[in-house]
Amino acid sequence: MVSYKELGLVNSREIFKKAFEGKYAIPAFNFNNLEQLQAIIQACVQEKSPVILQVSSGARKYANQTLLRYMAQGAVEYAKELGLNIPIVLHLDHGDTFELCKDCIDMGFSSVMIDGSHHSYEKNVELTRKVVEYAHKHDVTVEGELGILAGIEDDVVAEHHTYTQPEEVLDFVTKTGVDSLAISIGTSHGANKFTPDQCTRNAQGILVPPPLRFDILEAIEKIIPGFPIVLHGSSSVPQDLVAVINKYGGALKDTIGIPEAELRKAATSAVCKVNIDSDGRLAMTAAIREVMATQPGEFDPRKYLGPARDSLKTLYMHKVVSVLGSAGKA
Ligand code: G3H
Ligand code: 13P
Ligand code: ZN
Repeated sequence: MVSYKELGLVNSREIFKKAFEGKYAIPAFNFNNLEQLQAIIQACVQEKSPVILQVSSGARKYANQTLLRYMAQGAVEYAKELGLNIPIVLHLDHGDTFELCKDCIDMGFSSVMIDGSHHSYEKNVELTRKVVEYAHKHDVTVEGELGILAGIEDDVVAEHHTYTQPEEVLDFVTKTGVDSLAISIGTSHGANKFTPDQCTRNAQGILVPPPLRFDILEAIEKIIPGFPIVLHGSSSVPQDLVAVINKYGGALKDTIGIPEAELRKAATSAVCKVNIDSDGRLAMTAAIREVMATQPGEFDPRKYLGPARDSLKTLYMHKVVSVLGSAGKA
């Protein structure tokens, strides 16, 4: 058993309080490998932003849970080496069982998500409560979820959104004791968040998706004032990156994300944490495809992973400065 405190990590309590009061949101970036982690830390140190490093169960399977934990520990030291001891949270993304959450807490995670949203309401409350009881003994913060995002979450596919019901949130946060709540207001995971026929075309011919359900968010804010809200599925799917991928042999079709202006607006509300994974995948893939296509003689992985890392860093800096407003808040 190792406490995250010994590793120099922090839980999310204090940074969410500051984000709520300061009307900005903390970036939660997923990582599975070295280059992603380097880019996240470089960007957040340079822009002086707190950051949440997210590990999914898929990432644990891909990279090995022990390696990822030591990498996060290394990230704390790396940030200091780069010149600023920014607050860093190590968070389990979409934990689905008590055992997985416990395992992460025992190995040094400072925050966990227990995603019971696919269960009945009663089972979700029971499971979330059990995780909170264990986590809080170790001063680890817990994110719960109410409502179901359309799209794919690990192996579970939901065809339609089940929006969070504001009538449930007070009972849920009271009974479970969670520290933050992920809600469903129209975002979804992946790079195809809407179909073109769900969108309208603006004057420039660009597809504009239906707006997020800010009415639901506002209703929730009234019922649990000051309570930290989390938005999953918040990639914007930059079309310039998609164009580079397709130019160099990719075959991405009908990619539509959440407009940045909507996320900017959400970040000034009770939304304190914004999850972004897919945009990073697009940035990496675009850079790697470009090197592969334009420098066919290159076979040193550093020569394509290096540009991918630089592109990721640029993307993350843009997110914290222009979308989430967390730059300068570390
Ligand atoms: O919400 C899902 C995250 O984007 C993580 O994705 O399960 O493929 O690692 P993953
Ligand atoms: P995106 O697929 O929109 O990046 O969402 C990531 C996420 O919610 C991770 O939990
Ligand atoms: Zn998610």
